[in-house]
Amino acid sequence: MSDLVAHWDRRAESHDETPGNSLTAEQSEAWKSLLAEVYPICSGRLLDIGCGTGTYSLLLAELGFDVHGVDTSEQMISHARRKALGRRVPGGGLSATFSTLAAQDVAGRYDAVFSRNVLWTIADPGRLADVVRDHTTESALWVAVETIWDGRPHGAYREVGKSLPGFGGWHPNVLRDVFARHGFARTTWSSISNRADLVTADKDIHVLFRVIR
Ligand SMILES: C[S@@+](CC[C@H](N)C(=O)[O-])C[C@H]1O[C@@H](n2cnc3c(N)ncnc32)[C@H](O)[C@@H]1O
Repeated sequence: MSDLVAHWDRRAESHDETPGNSLTAEQSEAWKSLLAEVYPICSGRLLDIGCGTGTYSLLLAELGFDVHGVDTSEQMISHARRKALGRRVPGGGLSATFSTLAAQDVAGRYDAVFSRNVLWTIADPGRLADVVRDHTTESALWVAVETIWDGRPHGAYREVGKSLPGFGGWHPNVLRDVFARHGFARTTWSSISNRADLVTADKDIHVLFRVIR
């Protein structure tokens, strides 16, 4: 197991205490309405890359997507599965499945993609973009939410941070250019830092990318 996977396994237990992972009902609704606005249609197969404990996978399933959440951390995935069980709705339920899997190893084809705070943990976002391109339909939209923060690795991040060029957050224009070089020429980004209703009212910068071919 790599140091990075071990790091996320260790963090799984407390992950839901991190900002954005213990959403109130109002915050969940605010995220759902933003996502419903951004995705042209909320149906079809959606890949949630680095889904963690599945907070956003489940919101996306509630919107109508058939969600596949993947994460290299087995511990994160067991939390996500447990959370999904707690969300079953009588007579129907959500369509969300979770796999312990590196995004680079996904198979099949998806109609939409989501990731939140994952690109900074990936040494080569261009390689990930290639994978997304190879496993999505032509019109698929990848919504990527990322954070930019005071990026000096400390505490639990001291060791893993050293090996990550995106630690502290990629500059949005750098990521946009990477995406463009890897087949997503129409990528745009905008700040969502002013959306206090989404739990973004801290000193960090929160950016939402629309990654499009
Ligand atoms: C900062 S956490 C974000 C989790 C979740 N998306 C959220 O918003 O809370 C980053 C997650 O990405 C996962 N991850 C990192 N690299 C990955 C990869 N190549 N494939 C799948 N998951 C990955 C980690 O295991 C970790 O759970």
